[in-house]
Amino acid sequence: YVIGVDLGTSAVKVLLVNQDGEVTKEVARDYPLFQEKTGYSEQDPNDWVDQTMKGLSDLLHQFEGNPDDIEGISFSGQMHSLVLLDENKEVLRNAILWNDTRTTKECEEIYDRVGKDHLLDITKNIALEGFTLPKILWVKNNEPEIFNKAQTFMLPKDYVRYKLTGMLHMEYSDAAGTLLLNVKEKEWSKEICALLDINPDICPPLVDSSDEVGTITAEVAEMTGMNPFTRVFAGGADNACGAIGSGILEEGKTLASIGTSGVVLSYEASGDKDFQGKVHYFNHGAPDAFYTMGVTLAAGYSLSWFKDVFAKDIDFEELLADVNTAPIGSNGLLFTPYIVGERTPHVDANIRGSFIGMDASHEMKHFTRAVLEGITFSLNESVEIFRENGKTIDTVVSIGGGAKNENWLQMQADIFNAKIIKLSSEQGPGMGAAMLAAYGCGWFGTLQDCAQTFIKEDEVYYPIKDNVENYKAIFKFYQEVFPLTLTLN
Ligand code: XUL
Repeated sequence: YVIGVDLGTSAVKVLLVNQDGEVTKEVARDYPLFQEKTGYSEQDPNDWVDQTMKGLSDLLHQFEGNPDDIEGISFSGQMHSLVLLDENKEVLRNAILWNDTRTTKECEEIYDRVGKDHLLDITKNIALEGFTLPKILWVKNNEPEIFNKAQTFMLPKDYVRYKLTGMLHMEYSDAAGTLLLNVKEKEWSKEICALLDINPDICPPLVDSSDEVGTITAEVAEMTGMNPFTRVFAGGADNACGAIGSGILEEGKTLASIGTSGVVLSYEASGDKDFQGKVHYFNHGAPDAFYTMGVTLAAGYSLSWFKDVFAKDIDFEELLADVNTAPIGSNGLLFTPYIVGERTPHVDANIRGSFIGMDASHEMKHFTRAVLEGITFSLNESVEIFRENGKTIDTVVSIGGGAKNENWLQMQADIFNAKIIKLSSEQGPGMGAAMLAAYGCGWFGTLQDCAQTFIKEDEVYYPIKDNVENYKAIFKFYQEVFPLTLTLN
């Protein structure tokens, strides 16, 4: 067996996976989020550690086999969130999370002092409030007494892994989301540190996702019931692990994942391409590979917002039951899902969403269908950026909320104009983490071999020519809404 730990924003999920890739046990434990002011989002790193320990201990209690049979463990984690440690490796303040947006000024400071083009050259990415470097600068600018005590910065799952092993590392797929990594060269950018007066020594040693970084400590073994010789592998960022767990492991493979936010993610064999910062460009968890990714901030969130406001008393299944009886284009009703701002392709935290084209004949099903179409159009903007930059997107693996409804799966095929694959059992990033441990333990020669055993395709949805043409015309209107939208407050 191996264990995959997925340290999310609301909960940690711990999966026990056997050599056939089957999840034989699963435990989830949640922890609080602190939102002291608008735009603030924090967590206590030691809550992550406590709940991970408890999750492991619960899992081991439920496990009827011998703990010696659990060979390895690895991790997936929420990206970008900043953990600062002092000289004794104690946490200095709450973690500032990826969805905390207090750092607009610090993003401007990065552009002023590093230069946008230079930043793009080194990190392959633009400065976004969610990334780690602006958060480091925020602490430097606003809490200098804390910043001066900081000896190391960490990301969530790297901190938890440190507490399990006593070994301090960061791996490339998460380091890429800090804006301090030279993504192509796979090394910390001393130059960016110097330009921003940050001591480069706060950057931890770098390792690969499948590198073995130690074994669990005797104390952790005692607390959880695990064997102290359990091998620990570094793991990856949640999006990288989501990609691994969906088999996005070679050029030409693309993923559409609809959770609260939605991502379209595509494998990149090289770190040499130039997407001009229009999509994120990060190191993959697969050795020496990369991925590009566009993000729709409110994907599943747009649908759950819509249901909460307009259809509170029914469940999602009922809400979506008759969307197929509304025609393509929802009879002229168009929705843009910018209800919490937008990332790709419009980096705009202040833009807001809209329903346009309301007609007295519209019923609930037209509104629901328009919401699904708007979310999918937004994801299609990322697909189009990939295509404009020379990528072939003809097959997309769909996971998350978008894969739970067959009408939405067909809609993705028709809007993306690509074959859509639904997996037979999807476990998300936790499975990617388990695969890194399985590969690290030597169960398979490559991650691809592991994917062949662990990941099974279920159904395929093909684009329907007429629908594709209809949607192409409506997508043009969709793209015209953004520049016409007023932000009224
Ligand atoms: C990616 C991002 C989110 C977090 C969620 O850039 O901000 O997907 O990784 O955990």
